[in-house]
Amino acid sequence: MSLPQRNLNPVEPRIVVRGGIPLIGEVAVSGSKNASLAILAGALLAAKGETILRGLPRIGDVGTMAQVLQYLGVSTCFEDGGTTLRLNASVLVTDETPADLVTRMRASFWTLGPLLARLGSARIAQPGGCNIGARPIDLHIKGLSALGADIDQGFGSLTATAPNRLKGATVYLDFASVGATMNIMMAAALADGETIVENAAQEPDIEDLGNFLNAMGADISGHGTGVLTVRGVRQLHGAEYTVSTDRMEAGTLGIAAGITGGDVFLRGANAAHMRPITLKMREAGMLIEESPEGIRCVARTGRPQATNITASPHPGFPTDMQQAFTAMLCLADGVSLVTDNVYESRFHYLTELAKMGAHSTVNGRTAVITGVKRLTGADVDASDLRAGAAMVTAGLAAQGQTRVFKTEHLDRGYERLNEKLASLGAEIWREDEFGRRLDTPIATPEKLVSCSHA
Ligand code: UD1
Repeated sequence: MSLPQRNLNPVEPRIVVRGGIPLIGEVAVSGSKNASLAILAGALLAAKGETILRGLPRIGDVGTMAQVLQYLGVSTCFEDGGTTLRLNASVLVTDETPADLVTRMRASFWTLGPLLARLGSARIAQPGGCNIGARPIDLHIKGLSALGADIDQGFGSLTATAPNRLKGATVYLDFASVGATMNIMMAAALADGETIVENAAQEPDIEDLGNFLNAMGADISGHGTGVLTVRGVRQLHGAEYTVSTDRMEAGTLGIAAGITGGDVFLRGANAAHMRPITLKMREAGMLIEESPEGIRCVARTGRPQATNITASPHPGFPTDMQQAFTAMLCLADGVSLVTDNVYESRFHYLTELAKMGAHSTVNGRTAVITGVKRLTGADVDASDLRAGAAMVTAGLAAQGQTRVFKTEHLDRGYERLNEKLASLGAEIWREDEFGRRLDTPIATPEKLVSCSHA
C-alpha cells in the first residue's frame, strides 16, 4: 500500500503505527510528569539534607529539569534506570535559571518561587512550552508581589528580589493557574507568616507538591482544594518522596483501548485522580472498573458514543486529555462538542487529524466533531506533546499506516509510549530519519542515568 504524500521533508525520525488491532493486556503507568517537574523545583527549597525522589517518569522534561537544577548548583544522581533521583540542594551557586532551558520547557519557570524564597533573589527568562496559545505569567507575578517581592520585567527576562524574607499574604487568583499556585506555594513555604491562596488550582499535581513540601518540613494545608494555607517556616530539609502516577499517560492508554475495541488494565492508575477522565470515558460507552491496584478500561461494542467535553481546571476534564479524547470522538456515532476553557488555541491538531479523514469545525474555543466510520492512515505531525498523543491514538484505530513526525514532543512527556502500546499488541515502531526500523527500545536519555556533583 502506498503512503500518502507529505509536503514536509520526511527525513525525520518517526513513529509508525499500523492501525486496527484491539489493544489487550496490562500496562504499568509511569510517574506524573507535571508533579515530578514541580517537585524537582520544590527540592530547591531544601537548605540541608538529601532528597530522594522515586517513581519519576523517564522522559525528556525530567532530564531538562535535572539540568536546570544542576546549573543552579544542585548535585543530582539518577538511579533505578532513571526512575529515582538523589539530589542535594544545600549549596546553590546562582540565582539565575538559564534562559535556553526555560525557553525549552515552561516548568523551568517553577524555579522562580523557590529561588526567591531561598536566596532572596531570582533571575529567569520568560517561559516557553507547547504552542497552544497565550501563556501569560501575570498571576505568578501577582502572587509573588503580594508576598512582598519586587519584580522587574526586562526584555524577555524577569528579576525578583526580596532581600528581607517574603511575607505571608492573601492572594486571589483570577484563574486557577497550576503554575502560579505552585510558584506561590513554594515561595510562601519559607515566608514570614501565613499565606492563603484563594481560587488555587486543585490539580492532583498540586496535592503531590504540597505533600512533598510538608515532608520537607513545610506547614501547608488545603492543597488540592480551592483554598490553600501555607504557614511559613524558617528552613526546609531534604525528604524522601514517591511521585503519584500520571493521569494523562493513563488516560491516553485507556483511550487507546477504547478507540481500538480493546481491554486494558492500567496498573497503578489512581482512580480518584482520573475520575474526571473516566466519567467521560463511561459516557462515551466504555466500561471502567476501578480498583486500588489500577483501572480497567474496556471498549464498548461498536463505535464510541458521541460525548460533549469541556476542558477546565481540576476537577474539570483536563485540557491535557482533550486531544486524545477527541481522537476517539472522531470515530464516534454522532456529533460531539469539545470546548477548551483553559487554552484559547488548542485545536491545531485537528488539521492533522483531518488528513486521516476526521471531520471537525472550530468556532473559537469549541470544536464540533462529526464522527466518521473510519479513519485512514496518513503522514501527520505531532505539533505539540498532547497533539502527538492524539495522532498516535488515532493511528491505532486508522486503516493502514500512520507515520507521526516530530516525535521529540512525545518523548518530552511520555515514557516510551510506543513500547507500552506495543506491549498491548499494537503494531507500532520507530523509524530513523532514513526510514530504517528501530527494533531495539530507545535508550534512556543519557541525562536520566548520570550523576553530577556540583
Ligand atoms: C500546567 C501544566 C500543563 C497543563 C496546565 C493546565 C505543567 C508543567 N504544565 O501548565 O500541562 O496544560 O497546567 O492544566 O504542570 N494563566 C494566566 N496567567 C498566568 C498563568 C496562567 O492568565 O499567570 C492562564 C492562561 O490563560 C493559561 C491558563 O491560565 O492558558 C492555564 O495555565 P496554567 O494553569 O498556569 O498552566 P501551566 O501551569 O502553565
